[in-house]
Amino acid sequence: MKVQFGDLKSHYTTYKEQIDAAVARVLASGYFILGPELAAFERQFEEFLGLPENRVVGCNSGTDAIYLALAAAGVGPEHEVLAPSHTAVPTICAIRSTGATPVFVDICPRSYTIDVDQIEAKITPKTKAIVPVHLYGQTADMDRINAIASRHGLTVVEDCAQSTGATFKGQQSGTVGDYGAFSFYPSKNLGAFGDGGAVCCKTKEDYDRLIKIRNYGQSKRYYNDIEGVNSRLDEIQAAILGAQVEFVKGWNERRRELAARYDAGLKELVVTPEETPDNEHVYHLYVIETSYREELQSFLLERDVQTLIHYPVPAHLQDAYSYLNYSKGSLPRTESAVERILSLPMYPGLTDDQIDFVIESIAEFYKTRKVETLHKEQHLDVDRKPDQVASSVG
Ligand SMILES: Cc1ncc(COP(=O)(O)O)c(C=O)c1O
Repeated sequence: MKVQFGDLKSHYTTYKEQIDAAVARVLASGYFILGPELAAFERQFEEFLGLPENRVVGCNSGTDAIYLALAAAGVGPEHEVLAPSHTAVPTICAIRSTGATPVFVDICPRSYTIDVDQIEAKITPKTKAIVPVHLYGQTADMDRINAIASRHGLTVVEDCAQSTGATFKGQQSGTVGDYGAFSFYPSKNLGAFGDGGAVCCKTKEDYDRLIKIRNYGQSKRYYNDIEGVNSRLDEIQAAILGAQVEFVKGWNERRRELAARYDAGLKELVVTPEETPDNEHVYHLYVIETSYREELQSFLLERDVQTLIHYPVPAHLQDAYSYLNYSKGSLPRTESAVERILSLPMYPGLTDDQIDFVIESIAEFYKTRKVETLHKEQHLDVDRKPDQVASSVG
């Protein structure tokens, strides 16, 4: 049985009617940039997030969404921005696009989100913003982050690229901080058929500023009040996204069902994801930890089960950011996690049988190849909960 990591082709086949109609409507309209489809999608996404009108601004990508939020908040080269290093590098690209310096914070070992206890020690007079990343589909501890931000006069930009539809204390991710930045990269929980993103905000003033910055900084055609960029969500992508918004809740429910199935089958074998209190995880990724990552990954691949690592090199150790002078060992929990994490196939179109096949394959790996080393998993890293060992296995 083949289990792909994702399957965008079958996603299209399933929703072909809605997607084709959306694309055909735009092509026939002759209106391709900043038109009615974008306006309609922005309204739909505001409703999805539970926001009033004029709070969502579509843009070119999730990276740009973070950039636009930071730019709207006045972040510039003189500032520092706190962010986890354990994230997709675009979080950091967006910070750098403002000219600001990223300051990396370690993660909580079980949620993989920014460790709030370590934030205040990194705040300096230059700190202007915090970018918590709701990694893998669950939110960071937003109440405490907001409290720290308000004590120090900082802006909070939620990186919701992986958390569309996740909630914190019942509130949609992205609407808890000052700004929320969403990615509609095709494989995301709500995906375009190309690049796309959106930023949401709290006030009409922020919205007006974001609208200008995404379109060269102009208030009306050829009149530019502020500096801006070109970051627009085009009409075709907006129409495709608009056609799918109604399905996101159901897709996320299916992701949660699949995750529960994985949990039940794997919890005695490997470290399974933990859903933190106050938070509804939407499992953009289902990430386990194992001490035998490379071997397990090859074993699964031999059985046609595709897996990935999100992410193998943390931002602070990427060559691109070597000038920031973080050495190995500076963020120990991040560095420990990246050695052990493995993302299993996770998308709403997966069948229960496919999940069971992945579970059986992992059980087989431990049974046939690793039984003698299983017990060592209990003696791992003092700072982390060790892999649970099934005494029954083998
Ligand atoms: C956590 C995180 N932040 C930002 C981004 C950037 O989004 P995009 O690829 O739409 O620019 C991504 C997407 O890969 C992401 O996963």
